[in-house]
Amino acid sequence: MEIQDMLKMMRDPLGAPFFPVVFQVLLVVTWVLHIHFVTSAIGSSAYSIFAFLNKEADHLRLGRIAARLTPNMVGLGIVTGIAPLLFVQVIYDPLWYAANTLTGFWSVTFIFVVMGGYSLAYLFYLKGSKDGRLLWSAVLSLCLLCFAGWVMHALHAVSIRPEQWTYWYAPGGVIDTRGVIFHAYDIPRLFFLLPLQAGLGFAITLLFVAWYLRQRADADPVFLEWTANLGCRIGKTVSLLYGVAGLFWASAEGPEFGLTAFIAVLTFGLSVGLYLFFKSVDKQPIQAGAKAIGVWFAALLLVAIAREVIRTISLGRFDYSVANYPYIIDWGSVLMFGVTSIAGVSVVAYLVMVIYQAGLSADGTVSAKTERFGRIATGLLGAWFGFFLLVGLYTALFLQQ
Ligand code: HEM
Repeated sequence: MEIQDMLKMMRDPLGAPFFPVVFQVLLVVTWVLHIHFVTSAIGSSAYSIFAFLNKEADHLRLGRIAARLTPNMVGLGIVTGIAPLLFVQVIYDPLWYAANTLTGFWSVTFIFVVMGGYSLAYLFYLKGSKDGRLLWSAVLSLCLLCFAGWVMHALHAVSIRPEQWTYWYAPGGVIDTRGVIFHAYDIPRLFFLLPLQAGLGFAITLLFVAWYLRQRADADPVFLEWTANLGCRIGKTVSLLYGVAGLFWASAEGPEFGLTAFIAVLTFGLSVGLYLFFKSVDKQPIQAGAKAIGVWFAALLLVAIAREVIRTISLGRFDYSVANYPYIIDWGSVLMFGVTSIAGVSVVAYLVMVIYQAGLSADGTVSAKTERFGRIATGLLGAWFGFFLLVGLYTALFLQQ
């Protein structure tokens, strides 16, 4: 059987429930959130370990903030990872399931690795970050989080190389069902996506934290200035390394898909753009906090688009395209998805507003407007639960044969 036939036959016979290209756009956009949080978690975890080893007063103070940020960022990274996971499964189901089968042992282990990484980061924040005890838990957590990134990367690398699947499944004609081998990976790509983006994500976080905390009545301007300057210094250094890693990525993965110039120009351009941004704000970095977040998300969106271009070109070799993925618009699913998104986004927006406003006021209060919005958002969530329950009851009672 030809690879293109295999890929087509492995697609969901029911097709996608809506225009497939919409899922592709959502995949790219939600992945930006995912990669922002997981890499920033790795950056803040690494920094907190450095701070507790270094023991200098300002580093220690910031290290405690970073240790507190880490489990929050990991939690958000996991939650925002689920969204692209769902979209991948809708439009790239043959790839995702094949990669998860060929790397089965690690895709199951991944869950425990992520649980361990989160729990240990939380343990360190709760019990160790006051006086630097339990540093081993922070170190182990960082290792587990990096390993989770490695597994994600290997799964993706296997998924975009369908021409190798049958060989990996039965090398030399002998079936290997262990799923323990990492069949494909690209170190420069991973280096670009993980440790370097961790450095940049953390630098941006420092600018944002300094800008945000500066608005508090009890702010310590000297410490915040120091924090923002540190963010700027880290940003300038890492953005240069980002460009170098990008060129290595281009030379490693580019020739395989005929995308060397594309990856090189894009990653090098990003590196120069980010360097110039950090340079342009280094006189008054504390003012740049909000802008920095916008610049960083724009950069990550370009990286996400580059990943998608590589996948599209790779699959195009076998005539597999999201544009011709079969679909039947299923208004029931679309309605459920729409209602869930409205309820979910409203509640998350409410939580963000509460955290933002409570953090700025001395006694943790939030505005009456926010409270009103919160009542509507939680009401929506309650209505959604009721609706979901009714759909379940209707299905169980009336749609059973
Ligand atoms: C907590 C540690 C995690 C880290 C460090 C991490 C890191 C990464 C990295 C580096 C990539 C890009 C791989 C590449 O393009 O080569 C990626 C992709 C992805 N991650 Fe994560 N991830 C983590 C957890 C999760 C979790 C818990 C989920 C799901 C609930 C998830 C879902 C995804 C998805 C769906 C993709 C895109 C796959 C694709 O496009 O084929 N990740 N992750």
